[in-house]
Amino acid sequence: MEPARGFTPHMTPQSTTPPDTVHAAQMERRYRWQAATFDLTRRPLLLGRSGLAECVRGARAVLEVGCGTGQNLARLRAAAPEARIVGVECARSMARRARRRAVPRVEVMQADYGAAALPLGAFDRIVFSYSLSMIPHFADALRRASSDLVPGGSLVVLDFVAAPPPIAALLRLGGVELGGARWEWLAGHLAIQDSRERVAWGGLWRYRLVVAEKRGG
Ligand SMILES: C[S@@+](CC[C@H](N)C(=O)[O-])C[C@H]1O[C@@H](n2cnc3c(N)ncnc32)[C@H](O)[C@@H]1O
Repeated sequence: MEPARGFTPHMTPQSTTPPDTVHAAQMERRYRWQAATFDLTRRPLLLGRSGLAECVRGARAVLEVGCGTGQNLARLRAAAPEARIVGVECARSMARRARRRAVPRVEVMQADYGAAALPLGAFDRIVFSYSLSMIPHFADALRRASSDLVPGGSLVVLDFVAAPPPIAALLRLGGVELGGARWEWLAGHLAIQDSRERVAWGGLWRYRLVVAEKRGG
């Protein structure tokens, strides 16, 4: 079948697994013993994920960067039943779980997104759900995502925004980098379509869902 205009042909993600980067090895060390309990333990922490569905409705091709155990992939599949859906995850144990989840017609690739170009094709939505704050090379990842979007496509970013010092310190221990740099990058390079901020658990932290469109659509 001919790809639709703007959606370039791609290789099958499972067919190519690049060697682990330093970041991917760090993520694997972090999640190796947590992968089995991740879904249960993160439920009260990674708030707002049900809101991702409305952001991908009607999409033709959706990528989730840092898909973890693949919890969102089923959500994305349900919201965009006809779309090509791909998850990229750099920690081996998490990618394995995402694959085992067996969401119909979802492809999962194990790779460090932003470290190198990947043969993924093009997307009209790219989702970062609580992954952007864990990517030290976030500007490379966001540049890569912008170039993986078709013109008029959108990045959908859900993440922590701010927390009082003791909670911020705990998040940092968990590999989460707070601060405005990632949000500033989005506002400086893309057109913000929607931005919603919420308070978690009476003020323990704040999180934000942003939809940002690639200019020139
Ligand atoms: C907090 S988890 C969130 C998982 C999932 N997105 C969710 O909302 O349930 C962040 C995930 O991003 C992955 N990750 C971090 N940096 C990444 C990168 N550069 N490329 C791919 N995955 C990455 C981590 O290994 C981890 O599984």
